Amino acid sequence: MRSTASEQTRAIRSAGRVLIDARTIANRVGEIGATIARDYQGKTLDVVVVLEGARVFWKNLARTVADQLDLRVHYMRASSYGQESTPTRPVRLTQERGISLRGRDVLLVDDIVDTGRTARALLQHVWHSGARSSRLAAFLSKPDRRSVPVPIDYLGFEIPDEFVVGYGMDYAGEYRELPDVQVLEGPH
Ligand code: IMP
Ligand code: MG
Repeated sequence: MRSTASEQTRAIRSAGRVLIDARTIANRVGEIGATIARDYQGKTLDVVVVLEGARVFWKNLARTVADQLDLRVHYMRASSYGQESTPTRPVRLTQERGISLRGRDVLLVDDIVDTGRTARALLQHVWHSGARSSRLAAFLSKPDRRSVPVPIDYLGFEIPDEFVVGYGMDYAGEYRELPDVQVLEGPH
């Protein structure tokens, strides 16, 4: 059965309980952007945005950073396969052709550090690419879920072990457009 527009709107808005509201997010992201701009002042920064989830975080970080730094922006996909419970669950990385990070100062931008496996694989990739320096900016971190230690240089918020959506993060392709972070609740 087709749903009406208002039903769809309600469905999008009702992912669950708001964990971090839009204003709090905007303030924090502005602070992080200012810190990054200060830390990399006078340098050219290679930003690697991890798709899809970190697009919105980067778009808002860029508002602060873009007019203060020389930027080269790249996009990379990271997906894990195999069973989540497998300790050595591999992470597959896909990057656009022709990127060279050799000798560059690289900032990885990701949405969530959960177990830490994805971020670690990304940082290792950057390191093996011959970057001069690499740092990680993560919008969220779930410290209780960590199985691999990962240093996060710029962090938005620590959150409890709950599945969240919104601000670019999805569940099965949905809820990315939410302006805030919500805990996904109920049957989905
Ligand atoms: P990790 O390798 O376990 O750290 O997983 C990191 C990736 O899993 C994140 O970059 C997200 O793409 C995804 N992820 C983990 N937790 C959540 C969540 O609560 N909501 C949406 N995506 C998540
Ligand atoms: Mg991700």
